[in-house]
Amino acid sequence: MRHLGSTWLFPFIGLSLSCISVLVRGMTDVRREELRDETAALFKHGYEGYMRYAYPADELRPLSCGPLGRDPNEGNFGINDIHANISMTLVDVLSSLPVVHPKAYPKAVQLVAERVSFDQDVKVQVFEMTIRALGALLSTYQHLDELPDDPILQAEKLGLEEEGWSWGGARKASVNLKQYKDRMLALAKDLGERLLPAFDTVTGIPYARVNLRSGVLKGESVETCTAGAGSLLLEFALLSRLTGDDRFESLAHNAYMAIWNRRTQQNLLGNTIGTHGHWLSPGFSGVGAGMDSFFEYGIKAGIMLDDDTYYDIFYDSYAAVQTHVRTPDGFIYRPIQIRLLQPSSPSTIDSLSAFLPGIQVLAGDVESAIKSHLVFWNLWRKHSAMPESWQWSERNVEWAGYPGRPEFIESTYYLYQATQDPFYLRVGERILSDLKRRTKTKCGFATLKNVMTGELEDRMESFMLSETLKYLYLLFADIPLPNANKVFTTEGHSLRVPPKHLRTPSLTRRTLRRGEHPTCPVYKPVMVGGLTEDEGIVVGIEGRAEYEYARSLIYGWGSEGLEAEDPSKMWWNGGVCHIPSAPKFAFEIVLSPLNTSDPSQVPPEDPSPGPNKVTQDSLTGDYVITDIEGLRLGVRWRFDGQGYDVSNIGPHRLRPGQQVIITDPTMRDHLPVASPPPSELSHSPAELILRFTAYPSDTAFVGQASGEGQVFLHAVGATAVFGKDFGAPLVKNGGEKKGWELGGKGMRLVIAPDANGQAEEGCQSLPRKYLGLSPEEDYVLAVARGNCTFLEKAILAKANGAAGVLVLGTPPVTDTDGNTWDEGLIRPSAEIDPALESELDDMGMIYTEYLVGEVLRRAVNVEKRVLGIELLRMDGDAVPDENGGRAAGAPAGGGKAGSGAPDDGVEAREGRLMVGQHAIHNLKVVNGDKIDRGGRRPP
Ligand SMILES: *[C@@H]1O[C@H](CO)[C@@H](O)[C@H](O)[C@H]1NC(C)=O
Ligand SMILES: *[C@@H]1O[C@H](CO)[C@@H](O)[C@H](O)[C@H]1NC(C)=O
Ligand SMILES: *[C@@H]1O[C@H](CO)[C@@H](O)[C@H](O)[C@H]1NC(C)=O
Repeated sequence: MRHLGSTWLFPFIGLSLSCISVLVRGMTDVRREELRDETAALFKHGYEGYMRYAYPADELRPLSCGPLGRDPNEGNFGINDIHANISMTLVDVLSSLPVVHPKAYPKAVQLVAERVSFDQDVKVQVFEMTIRALGALLSTYQHLDELPDDPILQAEKLGLEEEGWSWGGARKASVNLKQYKDRMLALAKDLGERLLPAFDTVTGIPYARVNLRSGVLKGESVETCTAGAGSLLLEFALLSRLTGDDRFESLAHNAYMAIWNRRTQQNLLGNTIGTHGHWLSPGFSGVGAGMDSFFEYGIKAGIMLDDDTYYDIFYDSYAAVQTHVRTPDGFIYRPIQIRLLQPSSPSTIDSLSAFLPGIQVLAGDVESAIKSHLVFWNLWRKHSAMPESWQWSERNVEWAGYPGRPEFIESTYYLYQATQDPFYLRVGERILSDLKRRTKTKCGFATLKNVMTGELEDRMESFMLSETLKYLYLLFADIPLPNANKVFTTEGHSLRVPPKHLRTPSLTRRTLRRGEHPTCPVYKPVMVGGLTEDEGIVVGIEGRAEYEYARSLIYGWGSEGLEAEDPSKMWWNGGVCHIPSAPKFAFEIVLSPLNTSDPSQVPPEDPSPGPNKVTQDSLTGDYVITDIEGLRLGVRWRFDGQGYDVSNIGPHRLRPGQQVIITDPTMRDHLPVASPPPSELSHSPAELILRFTAYPSDTAFVGQASGEGQVFLHAVGATAVFGKDFGAPLVKNGGEKKGWELGGKGMRLVIAPDANGQAEEGCQSLPRKYLGLSPEEDYVLAVARGNCTFLEKAILAKANGAAGVLVLGTPPVTDTDGNTWDEGLIRPSAEIDPALESELDDMGMIYTEYLVGEVLRRAVNVEKRVLGIELLRMDGDAVPDENGGRAAGAPAGGGKAGSGAPDDGVEAREGRLMVGQHAIHNLKVVNGDKIDRGGRRPP
């Protein structure tokens, strides 16, 4: 293999953001809608071509405009695996028709319901039949089920009210589509049952192929692949939930687990496996062909079934991919040998791996998704299509075909929904024009045999319509991603598990529904030099350093092919440039009281640490480590880019929201000694006391916690981890503390009521005038949680001159079992650009619980009081002011349980462990027995 180091020495890339000055280029809605309609017209062209020239065959021959049937050579799996004599293209497209071409839907449903039969003497692939046909039937069943009973209303819902039904050529006022609902489920079940013989193996890993009439044939090959065996879950689980027949779900689950249970120590899976359960050579692990949808079905099964088993497998397998399969720059995912952990040479990436960015968006790792998508974008851009495979370090196309695959387009759609960056619309625009120009024929869309010569092949796979054009349509139509319990399958069929078919979530799961979900950060565009998108410069995807870097990965580093499109984006800046490197994603740490680099001194691993070492707080789910001896902590990179989280303590798994508290006294040495905490955690203290004072009127408010005011409430607040740092040294201004300060002067607290008397969410501008404030008056704005991000609330409030924002939590939720779940206190966080961070360092944000908000709202709305707010330290410590005096101590009743030991000023009471530059966020080392258990209540 050519060693990359030598290539990378070329000093080409500069990553300083200051080089960039590109505004986001937009796209008008009018243009977007034009593209949407153009896509729908292409879809219609392909569909009508298939119906006219090929139906009832499985596929259309797009060049000769005739039907394509099974190949008489049984070994031609490329065709025969999906040709079951079931009008596959029509079946596969069923779930897209209501969205893209609704006029054709009623007729298509009728044809499938009345004419398709799975009683065929054909050997087909279990995976392909499942994702294309079974998924389509289940999706159509669910779609018909959702339609109203009245045929007129059905037509309206489908957007056909003006046209009437197109029914066998004749126009009729109404036909009841719902009559076909049960037939769809019956067809699905029939197909499912015909696939069951495949699972009759010792391991539960199914055979790749079965005959729909006679089951597994004698002498059938035992070779299958990870994706083929491991991505039947969504369809099979839903089939079981809808029919009440558990066989499907349990077999698909067992197959999934059988694959996962054969992972390597690093949580890597091979590509091909025998039904007997052994990995077959050459034993490569990656994210492309043979593996792709295993990962996809892990996260999607987690979402659709709301089941932690699958989430856990997904996140474990994803961590292994990020650690071993991803290149150190964080852009390319290349296969590696599962035992040697080395890439092959040359190392090949296939077009199927372009699905990954979409999954990364679903998983919450938007930054990784942006990078991996950019690689594929440059491949597409260079070839005006996506070559089937490519040797990345040599920059060679290996296999030049393009059969109209959807993966790259699908990921583009996910990323557009996640970022709303118009760059992705322009990617779609380019795809659309290339598809039209290069693959459209008189009756459909042909496969590109060679993306470089443009030579065509007489084949149109069913996914060209059901996925490729469908996702392009979803992109331009700006249709939101499916959420809770609803997913698109790997063939683009939308499936959902209705609430009545969900299994009750486990207690752990409910316990953990507190706090922010750190795996789903809101995407924030990079902004340079300003506050808001109006004032500052927003750097779109195309203006990022990553954009040019990904470009050079495909086009080359030197002069070859790399003319800067925009001279202002030239990267040559005198040679001080470097290759990006992604932080190490997942690894294990061994805690040791010994300060040693000698591994023989490290205590042996304790495989099942008991309560003498680790205990779990049943209320909060937090883990307390009292003895570190023999413990191994798994650590993973956080998707918000802020550092690391502990993912497991030996066999104990941590989920978002759970904390690890180390009380082992031998770890005290790791506590920082009277030094400020590391920068990311500099927003201290994490919690403080809010003291509220009520005044009878505006004029009585004198900006001090005295006068006519009456202290009426003390409560605990949690400070945000961005914006103002309340722990930073006080700013003196003519002897008076400036801004919203800990121990500083009282400030006016304003609650902007919304129409329902609730607090506004602060997601729109609330000018001083609207709030009834004078132009100079300092104030803190109280807003309700929700609707927009904490960062947006902070920016908007700052723009209107507020000194701070008090975020009021959401009400506790009572579930069907009568249990009440309250998030308690959380620390508002934001994904924030460093440039913006400094702009916001005088904007303080504090979070307090819902009940506190209730009391405040009543005081303002009912009792017509004017409120003041002051900030006090949690533990009663003195806040030295400029006179060296002491500000008011903590009030009774609001104090932190268990605290109060005097701070001797030398030994810190709490500390974090750092990995390089990055903190481990959900772990803290505390001195002695001061354990913060959260969940305090205001008095
Ligand atoms: C295809 O299926 C139809 C009905 O489902 C059947 O009549 C026909 O014989 C089948 N064709 C072949 C080649 O098996
Ligand atoms: C650990 O050892 C290193 C070098 O042996 C030393 O620099 C460091 O200060 C020690 N750390 C502690 C916490 O004792
Ligand atoms: C969310 O904020 C937007 C814009 O500020 C507002 O128009 C909308 O009504 C809010 N939505 C809800 C559900 O409060």
